[in-house]
Amino acid sequence: MGRAGAGPPFDGPVMDGDLATLAWLIELGADEAIGDVAVDRFALAATAAPVVAARPTAPLPAATATPQVAGNPPTLPAAALADAHGLAAGAADLSALRDAMAAFDGCALKLGARSLVFADGLPGAHVMIVGEAPGREEDRAGLPFVGRSGQLLDRMLAAIGLDRRAEDPARAVYITNVLPWRPPENREPSSDEIAMLKAFLVRHIALAAPRVLFLMGKTAAGTLMETATGITRLRGTWTQVLGRPALPTLHPAALLRNPVQKRLAWADLLALRAHLDGASP
Ligand code: URA
Repeated sequence: MGRAGAGPPFDGPVMDGDLATLAWLIELGADEAIGDVAVDRFALAATAAPVVAARPTAPLPAATATPQVAGNPPTLPAAALADAHGLAAGAADLSALRDAMAAFDGCALKLGARSLVFADGLPGAHVMIVGEAPGREEDRAGLPFVGRSGQLLDRMLAAIGLDRRAEDPARAVYITNVLPWRPPENREPSSDEIAMLKAFLVRHIALAAPRVLFLMGKTAAGTLMETATGITRLRGTWTQVLGRPALPTLHPAALLRNPVQKRLAWADLLALRAHLDGASP
């Protein structure tokens, strides 16, 4: 279908990132090269992309605040919520936060999960990715995004020069999920589970201190932006979350189910790259 011109330029020796970009473009449906000269879409995006004003979100309750989530269903045990807030607030660094989450007994998901899936990648990376919850592979490995979605995520990141194994914070990413325990049968997290565990996520972001948040899917975007608006409407527009620029995007699992949406994800990846290069909001 001849969309090979939609990717970043190939003007040097073939590198790992180039091959990843090519693999990603083939996944997008590119099946021929339409020009002899590569088009620098990053440069075009930098000059042409409209600057979208950050959309403020409602302030989040601080992890230290009295646990009070607006519209809490009565089923959410106040003691467990208070416990989560107290544990999160008391964690001085990422390793303490992991220990605090492991010590938290207020969420029944913990009983059915093999692992606490805390994070992967480089703490201190400029980009922090937030997904939904571990699946079967992640529960087995104790690491986020290692199954099919994770493999696609790695290819998407490589296409814009990012890598969870990189040691340079500018090239690395740090990855976590809204929930650290796998929901049974990979069902969607309930609003109670999210409300109960959100204090840990908020603290996690504060301690990891990324420059940018990349919110993958409706659970991550909805939880952190405090909105019920669907991800297809939210995606691609920069906002502010916890005082940091945040870009909602589609979840890789959704891209696997609906490959035609990969072109939207590619636009979001280019927007993230342009932001990291200092070219957009
Ligand atoms: N989907 C997610 O949202 N997170 C993972 O870690 C794996 C799949």
